[in-house]
Amino acid sequence: MSQPQKKPRLLIVDDNATLVENLTEILEDAGYSVHGHGTCQSALAGAREGFDVALVDLRLPDGNGTELAPQLKEASPDGEVVLLTGFATLESAVAAVRAGACAYLVKPCATQELLVTVEQAMRHVRLHGEKRELSRRAQMAEKLAAVGTMTAGLSHEIRNPLNAAALQLTVLERRVQKLSKDVQQPLLDPLHLVRDEIRRLDHILEDFLQFARPREFQPHPVEVATVLTKVLDLLEGEAERRDVALERQFDSVPAVAGDEERLRQVVMNLALNALDAVGRGGTVRVSCRLEEPDAREVAIYVDDSGRGVPLEVRDRLFEPFFTTKAQGSGLGLSIVHAIVAQHGGTITIEDAPDSGARFALRLPRAR
Ligand SMILES: Nc1ncnc2c1ncn2[C@@H]1O[C@H](COP(=O)(O)OP(=O)(O)OP(=O)(O)O)[C@@H](O)[C@H]1O
Ligand SMILES: [Mg+2]
Repeated sequence: MSQPQKKPRLLIVDDNATLVENLTEILEDAGYSVHGHGTCQSALAGAREGFDVALVDLRLPDGNGTELAPQLKEASPDGEVVLLTGFATLESAVAAVRAGACAYLVKPCATQELLVTVEQAMRHVRLHGEKRELSRRAQMAEKLAAVGTMTAGLSHEIRNPLNAAALQLTVLERRVQKLSKDVQQPLLDPLHLVRDEIRRLDHILEDFLQFARPREFQPHPVEVATVLTKVLDLLEGEAERRDVALERQFDSVPAVAGDEERLRQVVMNLALNALDAVGRGGTVRVSCRLEEPDAREVAIYVDDSGRGVPLEVRDRLFEPFFTTKAQGSGLGLSIVHAIVAQHGGTITIEDAPDSGARFALRLPRAR
């Protein structure tokens, strides 16, 4: 799903400090975030943090640009390299192509030419990103389809014997409770373990069924504060048990277009994840606001004071079955993703204002 626009990140790799300074000034004015490096080694370290376009001098103190270019691209595969050369010779053009660069610039280059070349390289970068996103979505759609088919058949088949087992377990528990205290406990412990496991299975089946029951979607105006209040009221007790502060901060916002029950499920899944992400003494904050006075979408944030989500796994979280929890089904966020997409909204993972993760939900206003 779309991430908020970030400034494209450029690397300039040249040992001529004045040139780096000049290029930086021009490119920063044009809206890029620019990082200068004087050596191959320093450039490689910079590239590991990701880059969009690298402008690389052919001759560097500790190597040359044609060798550095493929290494940079390996560090950040969607990035593009533009070689900087002192002379417009056939050799430099050939060197640029061999190094996998998408263009080369002859120094000192005119501002206009510089900007056009970087913009062209950025177009390549966006294309790489779009291609990757498309193939990821295709994979996800495949997985979802597989889940759907499997679910429909299996869930009911499993649920019936599971309910019967749960019922028999209750009968057994009652009978055990009638026994004398000293024999009760050793019997009750394993019994409760089985009961908890049955509950877990039931929870997983419930998640599966969400995919199997694609009810018709008819959006109505939904009051955001009502949805949030209902979810938070339900979670109050659980938060207290875990010694987590559950905060709410609702601005007055317009209604959104959607299905109240499903939106409650979205917020519930996000809030449960947030509760799981923080330890005792942590904080979970749910808030809503308009990010701009005339914004067409209402923003709902679920922030937590946990460890946050590393950039490189953010996309994977929404894949079905991705979980890092021993007891998780890994379906919570894929259900969230499906419901939000159905609403024509977006969900992104950002950094929470005071560390931790922010799940930002943006939903279209009701007309
Ligand atoms: N607020 C968060 N902070 C850090 N990591 C998170 C957060 N929310 C989700 N995650 C990560 O995303 C994974 C997937 O979440 P998801 O809700 O899809 O499944 P789950 O919580 O593991 O299982 P389920 O929700 O089905 O019980 C989690 O296992 C966790 O690693
Ligand atoms: Mg979850």
